[in-house]
Amino acid sequence: MERETWGSKLGFWLAAAGSAIGLGNIWRFPYLAGSNGGAAFVFIYLLIVLTIGISVMLAEFTIGRHTNLNAVGAFQKLKGGPWQIAGWMGVVAGFVILSFYSVIGGWTIKYILSSFTGMISTSTDSTSYFLSFIANGPQTVLYHAIFMAITIFVVYRGVGKGIENTCKILMPALFLLLAILIIRAVTLPGALAGINFYLNPDFSKVTGATILAALGQAFFSLSLGMGCMITYGSYIKSKKESLPRAAATITLLDTAAAFLAGFVIFPTVFAFGATPSAGPGLTFITLPKVFALMPGGQIWSALFFLLLAVAALTSAISLLEVVVAYMIDNAKWSRQNAALIIGGAILLLGIPSALSQGAMTINIAGKSFLDFLDFISNNILLPLGGLLIALFVGWVIPEIAKKETTAHGTFGFQSVWIWICRVVAPVAIFVIFLGGLGLF
Ligand code: PHE
Repeated sequence: MERETWGSKLGFWLAAAGSAIGLGNIWRFPYLAGSNGGAAFVFIYLLIVLTIGISVMLAEFTIGRHTNLNAVGAFQKLKGGPWQIAGWMGVVAGFVILSFYSVIGGWTIKYILSSFTGMISTSTDSTSYFLSFIANGPQTVLYHAIFMAITIFVVYRGVGKGIENTCKILMPALFLLLAILIIRAVTLPGALAGINFYLNPDFSKVTGATILAALGQAFFSLSLGMGCMITYGSYIKSKKESLPRAAATITLLDTAAAFLAGFVIFPTVFAFGATPSAGPGLTFITLPKVFALMPGGQIWSALFFLLLAVAALTSAISLLEVVVAYMIDNAKWSRQNAALIIGGAILLLGIPSALSQGAMTINIAGKSFLDFLDFISNNILLPLGGLLIALFVGWVIPEIAKKETTAHGTFGFQSVWIWICRVVAPVAIFVIFLGGLGLF
């Protein structure tokens, strides 16, 4: 059977942007920026994304399109030997990340529905609402299963009919939702205080740890280091399509989405005198409290959680596709079987994560099961995978890489790119890696 491809360039761009733009952009980036020196953090993040991020993304697209294979198969075809480990780590990361990402995806679905059933009310304590929801084992597992079922359904339908068509509808919808929410947020009385908190540049808050945080965030947010962009690149049909242009576009869309999300969150939080807290607390506790004070709060809440759910879904699809593509290419499974069986196995692995947030105590190495898997993937699998991918393109296949990226002339960027892959990215990633393990 012929291998599937994207139907159009736009379809590929939207699918890759869909992978990149996810929970990482909407709740993680704004908070990191707000608490790490505002515009100073944004500036450092941009610098990293425009050098290392874009280079590793281009490296992944190159490996993918050149081989037309999944992450493991691509390394096997190009070189084999120990390099395959990079592909394997990607497949494992896809499996592991999706298992807990889907749990949070489930929370967003629950919160869309709850927006209309009493959660958004000044008489509801949003902290206890959240805590009692995540302590409700059957509920968290149910919503995780619903989120996984939707993800499996899309991947089951295939690259064009499933992933591409879904992203072609959901990505414009995501930007529209984002635009509506930004307009609402920045026109609230008192919104300016939030914008000040978000963007006021404070270079004194920038430390080594900040730079590490920005690097780690760049990898996670751009879906790098685990073969996701190798897999999506492998479905590009035409050698004429410019990979540098694709990498630049997707990087910019992802960065724009992250930056703009801050204009929803901080004006809203500050306009009603709340204080921003980290991650899940900000999204699932502070924002519902704020929506309860807003006229039409139920609708704004539902729209906001819909935005999160859409962002999470298009990322989840790409995580599942990494594993499914491997089973199709290498193990010769049918797409349908791969989507159902692998998706089902991920659903099962997600259950302890879902339960570990309050329903039961499931700890590994002093962290909840969910936090442990999050730690392993973000601090070990993604950075190591990114390191190997950059080294591979820089040292093992630089000639192939140059050939793959000449579609529209090279403008002399190629040698800069290759040297970023050879030295700059590996050194930077190695440093994040040690930092992420708490070694300094
Ligand atoms: N980029 C996604 C986000 O920001 C997460 C993700 C990571 C998706 C790695 C695929 C691969 O939420």
